[in-house]
Amino acid sequence: MQRTLVLLKPDCVRRRLMGRVIARLEDKDLNIVAMKLMRVTPELAKRHYVEHVQKAWYPELEAFITGAPIVAMVVSGPEAIQVLRSMAGATNGLKANPGTIRGDFSASQQMNLVHASDSPESAQREIAIFFGEEEICE
Ligand code: CDP
Ligand code: MG
Repeated sequence: MQRTLVLLKPDCVRRRLMGRVIARLEDKDLNIVAMKLMRVTPELAKRHYVEHVQKAWYPELEAFITGAPIVAMVVSGPEAIQVLRSMAGATNGLKANPGTIRGDFSASQQMNLVHASDSPESAQREIAIFFGEEEICE
């Protein structure tokens, strides 16, 4: 069993797609072991996206991710990290394959509905940013 961090980004919440995205995770028999609706602060955004803070597009990403509530989740299952990355699809919704969350619902490079950790190291680091171990119900 692996754990990964999944975020339903502000566009997902605003477009009322939370239920449809969560349904896909449940259809795949993944376990949601922690979940909360919350607002990302600029400080939290900089920690979560530390690898991107220096990029030219970071200020726009921060404005987007802090602009409205998100849903943060810890999802567990066999090979959950890679499974969630492939269910999310390519970063840019215009390039993401049909059948993926981004491919089916996003037409944007930035507003791509979901975040999913990209490696075991990222998953561990990112989960610890959003959740205390006592909030995770395994
Ligand atoms: O989320 P993912 O790991 O697929 O992509 P990333 O390259 O790590 O970028 C993180 C997030 O930054 C993306 O999911 C987009 O929301 C956003 N982004 C952006 O706003 N502008 C870009 N040129 C690239 C990414
Ligand atoms: Mg990434």
